[in-house]
Amino acid sequence: MRNESLSEAFRPALNVIFPLEETMVGIDFGKPLFTSEEIQRKIHELGSRISLDYAEKDLLVVGVLKGALFFMSDLLRSLRISVRMDFIHCTSSKGSHPVQIIADMKEDIRGKDILLIEDIMDSGVTIDHLKKMLLDRNPASLKVCVLLDKAERRKVPIEADYAGFRIPNKYVVGYGLDYKDRYRNLPYIAVLPMEERQA
Ligand code: IMP
Ligand code: MG
Repeated sequence: MRNESLSEAFRPALNVIFPLEETMVGIDFGKPLFTSEEIQRKIHELGSRISLDYAEKDLLVVGVLKGALFFMSDLLRSLRISVRMDFIHCTSSKGSHPVQIIADMKEDIRGKDILLIEDIMDSGVTIDHLKKMLLDRNPASLKVCVLLDKAERRKVPIEADYAGFRIPNKYVVGYGLDYKDRYRNLPYIAVLPMEERQA
């Protein structure tokens, strides 16, 4: 039996032991805020717009790690244009802590069309910082694409050029988004239950 069919054979048993709504063992996330199907539909909408807008350009996509990992990977595969990619690994701003660059991108972006990809825009401080840093390097253009937008939490006047879902002021995890670096691999987006937040 090949590996795929072996794992297919075990799937029903797996769903009994770990029901899908309780994908992280022992944690009940309740109803997803966005299911993986809803996320994929939204990504296809964004991907169509980006493909049209950059049809005549040579786009360099820059993902902000770690949160943008799954979003970027699905978004790029929904594009109808060939792009190049790079990454910036940074910590987001927290209270008075500034944004810290853990690993900068490798490419020289002077004169290039850049699309920065982030999981969520909250206060806006992280993206604002990254935008200023990249604009200093004189790209031809710089736009921002986020999957989630907590618009009411904004502390700096900034908007994403492409935003998937606008969400209320709730702490969400899954599909790349973390709480203390956990739950990123949840396949959908859910509000983090209060009891897990205090744990
Ligand atoms: P900002 O600088 O306040 O816009 O924060 C952006 C960063 O904060 C994101 O890249 C996330 O890492 C993190 N963040 C903000 N809200 C959430 C959330 O609801 N869940 C998980 N991470 C979040
Ligand atoms: Mg984060």
